[in-house]
Amino acid sequence: MHKTITGFSKLSKSKKIDWIVDTYFSNNANAKTILKQYWNSDSKLQQLHDEFIENTITNYYLPFGVAPNFLINGQTYTIPMAIEESSVVAAASKAAKFWFDRGGFKTEVISTTKIGQVHFTYDGNSEVLESFFNGIKSKFYEDTSSITNSMVKRGGGILDIELKNKTESLDNYYQLHASFETMDAMGANFINSCLEQFATTLKTEAQTKLQGNINVVMSILSNYVPNCLVRAEVSCKVEDLTENPNISPEAFAEKFIQAVKIAEVEPYRAVTHNKGIMNGIDAVVLATGNDFRAVEAGVHAYASRKGTYSSLTHAELNNGLFKFWMEIPLALGTVGGLTSLHPLVKLALEMLGKPSAKELMQIVAVAGLAQNFAALRSLTTTGIQEGHMKMHLMNILNQFEATSEEKKILVSHFKTNAVSHSAVVDTINKLRANN
Ligand code: MEV
Repeated sequence: MHKTITGFSKLSKSKKIDWIVDTYFSNNANAKTILKQYWNSDSKLQQLHDEFIENTITNYYLPFGVAPNFLINGQTYTIPMAIEESSVVAAASKAAKFWFDRGGFKTEVISTTKIGQVHFTYDGNSEVLESFFNGIKSKFYEDTSSITNSMVKRGGGILDIELKNKTESLDNYYQLHASFETMDAMGANFINSCLEQFATTLKTEAQTKLQGNINVVMSILSNYVPNCLVRAEVSCKVEDLTENPNISPEAFAEKFIQAVKIAEVEPYRAVTHNKGIMNGIDAVVLATGNDFRAVEAGVHAYASRKGTYSSLTHAELNNGLFKFWMEIPLALGTVGGLTSLHPLVKLALEMLGKPSAKELMQIVAVAGLAQNFAALRSLTTTGIQEGHMKMHLMNILNQFEATSEEKKILVSHFKTNAVSHSAVVDTINKLRANN
């Protein structure tokens, strides 16, 4: 029977663990040891992690890997990736190497505007609200000046504030729809602080200057950032698409482009296609201490912007030139948040040459495009399982607690044999039976 508890967050870490173990693990003598196994022996570092969130009882490790040989706008990068999926870093590295020899990735930041909204209701006349808004618009800027000062010095700030009439969608519903430039910060705190001040200003001014009732429902940034957009592209002569000896470059290009077109028109495929892109994107977003949930939400909304969920990438063959590209919205920061707190995040950013947010947008987009290239290359030639299962082999061997000697023999065996779960089980059993 599971219990509830009051005041859990006030308990010490070890008391929290005692309660968890007593309540849920009375039959598991290892539970406490497993939780404590992941504590860091450096107590200051552990405390840092404990204090990231409430009720930390241990750390959750993800592999932190690197994909070298990325050539982006003529500069070479080794890209840090935090991800658990076996084949992602290997695929990124392979795609990086492939394009390194073909001119590398070309990227461009198209725009960097972010959006925040104050959602409110008003029961009066919309034209009266409009003229009230125009009359107090400058007050929104004045009242937020202490919040925006340092952002303005860095070149950012509030770009515009509009009043939007949404009463056709929902009775009495209006918005203050504001746009922001947040420079190297992801900007969530900055935007939300501005919006909450806008809401206060709106209510205060309305008390004396507006007839009718204003009711602020909420003030929050939008994670939909279609005007914070980055483009990444690769291109080469079709005859240079010479990776797989079993398929001519022309046939490969045709099949590859067909695969992209399928993802453009077929949502079931588009979701998986884009998931592969997010394998690359999330891994770098996470390694650099950014908010991958915000990125995911924004990217998928962008993929549906035309009314049907569709591919984020596109490809064409024109006059013998193969081109593969993607434009995606990415709200990222290289200052604030975890970026100056988490030692691995700091290291990741240092490895990337301490990029600006704009540079990081380009690097992350490249990781996504590379990942999609690697996935489509496998899918349209050998199939995904060959490479995927090769990388997954080690996980299966670890499930069977294979010794280093057994691993050596089995890895060598599966260099020339197809990996499947049952094939690995058979081979390991045979090996053990013979010893
Ligand atoms: C697996 O994590 C990602 C893929 O399914 C992506 C795709 O199908 O394009 C391989």
